[in-house]
Amino acid sequence: MNRERNVQRLLVTGGAGFIGSAFIRYLMTKTPFQGICVNYDALTYAGNLDNLIPVADDPRYRFVRGDICDESLVETVCGQYEIDTLIHFAAETHVDRSILGPQAFMETNVLGTFHLLEVIRRHPRIHFHHVSTDEVYGCLGETGSFTETTPYAPRSPYSASKASSDHLVRSYSETYGISTCISNCSNNYGPYQFPEKLIPLMIVNCWRGRPLPVYGQGHNVRDWLYVDDHAAALWLLLRQGKKGDTYNIGGNEERRNIDIVHAVAELVAEKRGLHPNELLRLITYVRDRPGHDYRYSIDSSKLRETLNWHPHHSFNQGLHATVEWYLNHESWIERVESGAYKEWIAQQYAL
Ligand code: NAD
Ligand code: DAU
Repeated sequence: MNRERNVQRLLVTGGAGFIGSAFIRYLMTKTPFQGICVNYDALTYAGNLDNLIPVADDPRYRFVRGDICDESLVETVCGQYEIDTLIHFAAETHVDRSILGPQAFMETNVLGTFHLLEVIRRHPRIHFHHVSTDEVYGCLGETGSFTETTPYAPRSPYSASKASSDHLVRSYSETYGISTCISNCSNNYGPYQFPEKLIPLMIVNCWRGRPLPVYGQGHNVRDWLYVDDHAAALWLLLRQGKKGDTYNIGGNEERRNIDIVHAVAELVAEKRGLHPNELLRLITYVRDRPGHDYRYSIDSSKLRETLNWHPHHSFNQGLHATVEWYLNHESWIERVESGAYKEWIAQQYAL
């Protein structure tokens, strides 16, 4: 077995986004981590420092505003904080946006990852963990699951950009011998997710009485994982993931989109004391996403069997907790919807 890595000086790219911030909150509140955690984030529309309020005053936490394409700033920060481990979340992540405007995806996901790897090549003492997605494997029919050896077959500009970044990471590991690990995870959901993704969008729209847009027939299937379970897997992989290896992470919780929309509507209706039909009638079938991947399913047995990782939240528990969180965090939603979270950032960071 590999010797456990001693993670003490951690650089987190994209730590103000949905999963990156969940990881930092998890690190600070659920692990014995005693080192320094530097959140390096450009604060795009998806970056929200409100997500870090629970840990913002923790003496182990630092924030640096920066773009991952700014190689010299990344290198300075790595030197200043004597970084020993880098976990890379920063990315453009929304498939629909990648269809409307792919360029930012190529710049951040491909070139940004390249610039980080160049820094690591010059500082090979730093271990590099790359957070990636199951979408690199393409799309499944009714049966089967993605394993770590499934050939890559991305079908959207987003997934092509993530696939490219995975290839870059693997090539730097092979060619330059740097220490890397890649994880490919299925769809995450949970608190603080930007309400452009399916679950938070449906919760917010139910709450506001707005239409619930379902692409195509709503029969596409995703494999869902509660975000804290992803954070736990990443903390484990940072310490025990085998150098140069790849791990799939997934919840084994496949659901059709339409069934999720029904479940959300029913939960929100219950909380608001409404009959579910009052929200179900908001379902609006809209034009399908171009190149819409039919089904994702992740086989995470390697991670489960080699490192004994298991998700702690069933989909039903996680969805309850998520709906509850959004309904109790009206001000977070308002600040996201009104753009007020950006005004605060502008004051703090002189945009
Ligand atoms: P997100 O969109 O919520 O957050 C992305 C973060 O990256 C934001 O804070 C943003 O400001 C930052 N960022 C974007 N461009 C940057 C740049 N050029 N320099 C520095 N920071 C930049 O994303 P997420 O859903 O939290 O996803 C995080 C990572 O996990 C991504 O790499 C994504 O591909 C991967 N992933 C996501 C899911 C999912 O279901 N959301 C599943 C599997 C893997
Ligand atoms: O599988 C992991 C990926 O999951 C991550 O890599 C991506 O960053 C993340 O965005 C997510 O991609 P998806 O495209 O699967 O997620 P999204 O929430 O955009 O859509 C989930 C499903 O719901 C998909 O089949 C499209 C559908 N959908 C989505 C939206 C936003 C709708 O039917 N209506 C909607 O309004």
